[in-house]
Amino acid sequence: MRTTPPPLLTELVEGRVWASERPVWFGGVRLRARTSVIRLDDGGLLVHSPAPPTDAWVAQVAALGEVRWLVVPNCFHHLGTPAAATAFPGATVVAPPSAAARNPALRIDVALDAPAFATAVPELARVPLDGVPFLDETLLYHHATETLFGADIVLRAAEDDHWTWRLAARVTGCWKRLSVPPDVRKQVTDRDAASRSLRALRRLSVRRLVIAHGHVVDESPVEQLLAAWRRVGVEA
Ligand SMILES: [Fe+2]
Repeated sequence: MRTTPPPLLTELVEGRVWASERPVWFGGVRLRARTSVIRLDDGGLLVHSPAPPTDAWVAQVAALGEVRWLVVPNCFHHLGTPAAATAFPGATVVAPPSAAARNPALRIDVALDAPAFATAVPELARVPLDGVPFLDETLLYHHATETLFGADIVLRAAEDDHWTWRLAARVTGCWKRLSVPPDVRKQVTDRDAASRSLRALRRLSVRRLVIAHGHVVDESPVEQLLAAWRRVGVEA
């Protein structure tokens, strides 16, 4: 008997934003890692932080529309993109050049900071996190849904995370509290630049923050994000 595969995508904003999660091991702990799918004004889809695609995931995303963009949000979240680019051959790969330096298999069609991307997708604003080249992250703000998409800028452990991460999170201050990732804390090379970047978030009306490693933040998301960075010495 044929059965329909279980839904891998959760709808975060009706008809506009979906996300899926998968486990990833990093530094001896098992985190959740989120991939988001945004339906753009022209009906095309943008996949943020693509996971290594399974057939079932590809089928469910394809049922939502045509994938036009695959976005690598920083220099770490590139692992699934080469396979995603193969699964969605019509999609344009957008990534920071620093990600290509880490992954020779990554084909970048458009740099994340290139004007061409902003022109093609005007409903998304880019907020680069300057001063932390270790991460080289750029957040995306979707005006229509007032959703801010990041990857590693902050993370948080919850009750439903794996025990390894629940334990490590208690030691590193990430337990149920939005926090700068431990490996990023000592990698701020320009605090003034980071402050300026974070300050730009204050000008946005953010209803929810979608991050890679933690539940979606829908309660005072910018305030919680700024508090996390304040604790590591970056005021904004
Ligand atoms: Fe990450």
